[in-house]
Amino acid sequence: MSKPLGVYVHWPYCARICPYCDFNVYKNRPADAGAWTTALTRDLERYAERTQDRKLTSLYFGGGTPSLAPLPVIESVIETCDRLWGFEPQAEITLEANPTDAEQSRFEGFAGAGINRLSLGVQSLRDEALKFLGRDHDAAAAKRAIAAAQDAFSRVTFDLIYARPGQTLDDWRIELAEALSFGASHLSLYQLTIEPGTAFGFAVEKGRWAPAEDDLCADMFDAAQEMTAAAGLHAYEISNHAAPGQESRHNLVYWTYGDYVGVGPGAHGRLSETGARIAIETPLAPRDYLAGAPHEETALEPREAEMERLSMGLRLHKGVSFAETDAFFAEAGAYEKLDRLIGDGLLHWDGQMLCASADGRRILNRVLYELFG
Ligand SMILES: C[S@@+](CC[C@H](N)C(=O)[O-])C[C@H]1O[C@@H](n2cnc3c(N)ncnc32)[C@H](O)[C@@H]1O
Ligand code: SF4
Repeated sequence: MSKPLGVYVHWPYCARICPYCDFNVYKNRPADAGAWTTALTRDLERYAERTQDRKLTSLYFGGGTPSLAPLPVIESVIETCDRLWGFEPQAEITLEANPTDAEQSRFEGFAGAGINRLSLGVQSLRDEALKFLGRDHDAAAAKRAIAAAQDAFSRVTFDLIYARPGQTLDDWRIELAEALSFGASHLSLYQLTIEPGTAFGFAVEKGRWAPAEDDLCADMFDAAQEMTAAAGLHAYEISNHAAPGQESRHNLVYWTYGDYVGVGPGAHGRLSETGARIAIETPLAPRDYLAGAPHEETALEPREAEMERLSMGLRLHKGVSFAETDAFFAEAGAYEKLDRLIGDGLLHWDGQMLCASADGRRILNRVLYELFG
């Protein structure tokens, strides 16, 4: 059986740039729907030739803010994917949306185009926090958007950002309880990360405010695990919680190291071709992308591909298959590193599956650095 195949479409524009965000984003401008459709179709056709006879598990419109994209662009990408590959029976077609009133009015149109899962960037249910995060919506608009999304789409997920400065453990518990009361079948709960080069990165560097302490972040993470589990949304990945069967099929393609095509500016793809893992990255700047600038392609070294596979798989609660024949063990000292992390209670290995404990998942970057660094 071939690996699952997904398509990621990056829409790079946003109404305004949030002070914490380091994604490949640009201030919104009127988009030439024809030029975007031509460029995206050109790349979808190019990669479809390399992934013949396979159906799509998922299509994901991410960003940026793809809920600002012209509807004909979304419709055209869905039709093109159907023509080039076709969709598996349970295929997931997700669109990320910001919860402003203007975007809510477009939900029916997106559903009509074939979007069957909406991912809303709620971020917080508190007005002051939304202001601090530089968002365009308030808590009331977020609640209206959740309700409108639940009317228009069979599957709705939303994102929250916690561990904001000044937020207490009790504040987080109350906010999360409110979020769970909307009955969404999937939630993404992200700890606020201070990214270098962002407005928040500069503010923290200058000492204007400090991020939440590690211990508080750990307590908030644990509270999220406990509360989502009690509500029937299991933590199937570090930051992602779902009711059984409602996990994101698209993100599972990444985490289980399936194949994916990435189109749009700065999109990443991974294809398995004649035994090699090919990493592909499109040009970052929208203007270069539209002009057809070359994509970067690299055949990953086996060890690099193995490290990627393990890094992705360890994000999952169930872990990743890992055998003594894997490239990792070819390296001197590999067993010792693994033993140390198992001894510290951060990893668990039964000879077949390697998984991170709850503590290990919370500090996964450090664990991966110990393992591969
Ligand atoms: C790239 S955004 C796209 C979604 C949409 N544009 C939005 O903002 O609602 C995807 C998600 O990443 C999360 N995110 C982005 N930067 C983050 C950061 N520095 N710390 C924590 N979460 C972040 C936010 O929750 C956001 O909803
Ligand atoms: S968080 Fe979303 S809306 Fe804000 S800049 Fe990033 S992609 Fe755009």
